[in-house]
Amino acid sequence: MDRWSDVNGIYQIYPRSFMDTDGDGSGDISGIIEKLDYIKGGEDSLGVDAIWLSPFYTSPMIDGGYDVSDYCGVNPLFGTLADFKRLLDEAHRRQIRVMIDFVPSHTSDIHPWFEQSASSRESSQRDWYIWRDAKPDGSAPNNWLSVAGGSAWQYDEKTDQYYLHSFLKEQPDLNWDNLEVREAMKAVVDFWLSMGVDGLRADAVRWMAKDRSFIDNLPNPNYQAGQEDPYHSQIHTYEGSADQLRTYLCDIAAAVERYDDCILIFEDYPNFSGVTLEERYRPYLELYDINPRVAMPFNFEGMFTAFHATSFRDFVGTIQSLLTDDRIPVYCFGNHDQSRLVSRFGQQQARLIAMMQLTLPGLPVMYYGDELGMSDGRIDDEFIQDSFEKNNPGVGIGRDPERTPMQWSHGLSAGFSKGVPWLPLPSELQDKTVADQQTDRTSFFALYQKILALRSSTSTLRRGAYETFGTNDEHIFSYKRSDKDYIFTIALNFSDQTVECYIGESNSDIIAATSQPVRMKDEHTVNLRPYQGIVMARRV
Ligand code: GLC
Repeated sequence: MDRWSDVNGIYQIYPRSFMDTDGDGSGDISGIIEKLDYIKGGEDSLGVDAIWLSPFYTSPMIDGGYDVSDYCGVNPLFGTLADFKRLLDEAHRRQIRVMIDFVPSHTSDIHPWFEQSASSRESSQRDWYIWRDAKPDGSAPNNWLSVAGGSAWQYDEKTDQYYLHSFLKEQPDLNWDNLEVREAMKAVVDFWLSMGVDGLRADAVRWMAKDRSFIDNLPNPNYQAGQEDPYHSQIHTYEGSADQLRTYLCDIAAAVERYDDCILIFEDYPNFSGVTLEERYRPYLELYDINPRVAMPFNFEGMFTAFHATSFRDFVGTIQSLLTDDRIPVYCFGNHDQSRLVSRFGQQQARLIAMMQLTLPGLPVMYYGDELGMSDGRIDDEFIQDSFEKNNPGVGIGRDPERTPMQWSHGLSAGFSKGVPWLPLPSELQDKTVADQQTDRTSFFALYQKILALRSSTSTLRRGAYETFGTNDEHIFSYKRSDKDYIFTIALNFSDQTVECYIGESNSDIIAATSQPVRMKDEHTVNLRPYQGIVMARRV
């Protein structure tokens, strides 16, 4: 099988929404197996070399499975451990690598570890979680907030203390200062990697390490009450990313490194409280220092970058200049926590983003359904599933819209399920189904398929040099990707106007375009239509 360095990209599957084979309305592991040919190897497959599965572990599903009650068990909703092993075999048979989610920062409150910890102050596992006394007035130990809304502390009447939960109160934070916790979590890594899993995506890592002073965060002077998520009312200094994070992550990376060619990708968002670029990127670069041989962080910056050629050029240029050759960028523009690409940027614009993502260096991570241009679903109140939304209606932190079922065909429930899907599908699918798009050479799917194939056929797009040109252009972000075999020229028009772009290269063929026709003005110049992007190639 290919090594990770040959992998053209990673396709994120949200198991509950991919394919349901037992008719209960939720996707399952057998469904993923059934659709592996869609991912790679089959006729008309997308052609992506790796998948990442969001959690399928035993869980009460209060946070979509990110509330794990048994790290080594499979949630019956999704199948059995035998099903998972079958998935692993079937994926590997098709040369597809399998990455799974690893949730180190918290467990479910019905995990036996937490039940034992909460049973009494004297419990042998009391220190596995973070318990603190109330302030003298009975209020929470400090002002830290939960990402899921409200205080990060939950009072426990039985033992008269508060426990910390950086997310939902049903997700108590583990205490990584406790060596037994670290050993137990390393055993989880061993359990899956010794089975043959190829990599881990480590969830919400910054919250593994709190400042041991447990002091209050300062208010955020730029916060606009009533207009943004109340979580942004503070500068988040103390509840995460403390110095000891490095030790914890080094430990996990060392555990991963014992297995041949396995990788670890950390989930961490840019430091929004940072004022300067330096402050913003420092935590990101530090994550690369953990162990560049196996570990790398996601790059989510593009999710928050304004849709302009200059802002994308600056963002990518800054990142590329900060990374040395041994550091693999993981550009990611969508996932199960963010509004869909098409809903954020628009239809044509999303195609441009896709072309950019798949022509940048490293290991791109794509979210299921984005390859069809699926947009956010409309979720009426009675269908809401996400606790983030249920607990904080209308604040805008609900994530159901981007988790709607995969749209396979115009059959019953878009070919996703014979039952009632756990989240509603759009009433009108238009041409946003796999069946429509596999036969349409101008589709979103065809664009992804084409550039992924290019990424596979030569290492130039994965590892070649990156160099911008036309750097004063306010409408076009253009760059070359080159090595000893090829020079690829990529020109992306971020504006709603037709813009002339000087390419320079002669004898280059246009091998992909986000829309047709592509009009060359002369051998060296192309007139790019609104939001049009092209890839040209020349053999060296
Ligand atoms: C990560 C996951 C998100 C989850 C949270 C808590 O950000 O992507 O879905 O709610 O961590 O585990």
